[in-house]
Amino acid sequence: MQSSHEKTKIVVLISGGGSNLQAVIDQVANGTIDAEISLVISNNPDVKGLQRANHAGIPTALVNHREYDSRDSFERELIRQIDSHQPDLLVLAGFMRIFNAGFTNHYAGRMLNIHPSLLPKFKGVHTHERALQAGDKEHGATVHFVTSELDGGPLVIQAIVPIKDTDTASDLAARVLVQEHVIYPIAIKWFCEGRLTLDGNQVCLDKQPLPKEGIAHHANS
Ligand code: GAR
Repeated sequence: MQSSHEKTKIVVLISGGGSNLQAVIDQVANGTIDAEISLVISNNPDVKGLQRANHAGIPTALVNHREYDSRDSFERELIRQIDSHQPDLLVLAGFMRIFNAGFTNHYAGRMLNIHPSLLPKFKGVHTHERALQAGDKEHGATVHFVTSELDGGPLVIQAIVPIKDTDTASDLAARVLVQEHVIYPIAIKWFCEGRLTLDGNQVCLDKQPLPKEGIAHHANS
C-alpha cells in the first residue's frame, strides 16, 4: 500500500475502447482518486483506449498476445512490463485475455477486474444476451478481486440495473456501462485509500468483512 507521501501507483490493462480506463483517468485528474496511473498496457494495437492514455499523457505499451508462442511467455512479458513500474494495484479494464494461475497469484490481493454481469451469474462472454435470454429482471456489473478462477474472485461492489421489456442486448450493455463508470472508480478509490483489502478470500472495507455479493449500488434508470 502507498506510504503517506507517495501516491498509489496503478497499472491498467485494456483490450479495446477503454471507457472504464477513461472514468479512472478522469477521477485521478480531478483528484477524487489519489493515485498515479503509471502505465496502460493493451494486448491489441490501435485501440481507442491507447489513444485515451496518450491523450492523458500516460505511458503506454503494446503486448500483443499474437506475438508470443504461449500464454506463459505472453504473461512473462506482461509481468516484466508491469513490475518495472512497481504498481500497488493492477486494474483490468476490459482486458479480454484469460490468465494462468501464476499470473493471478503474482498479483493476489492487488488486482481488480470489472465484469458486465451480476456475478456469480453469467461468467465469461455475451453476458447481456444471456441475461435477456434468461428472462432476468435485473442485470449489472461487478467489481471483484481477481483470482485463478475465471470471473470467480471475491466481490467488491455490484451495480444493479433494471432490464426493460423492450431492451436489446446493446441497450442493456449501454445501461450497464454507464454504471461501470460509477462503481469501478469507487472501488479503486477505496483501494487507493487503503480501505479495501483482501484477507484470504474475504473482502474487507474499513476492516469490516463485506457480504459475499459485495456492496450493492442500485441505479434507478
Ligand atoms: C466493459 O463492459 C467491461 O465490463 C467488459 O468489457 C467492457 C470494456 O469496455 N469486460 C469484460 O467483459 C471482462 N471479461 P471499455 O473498454 O469501454 O472499458
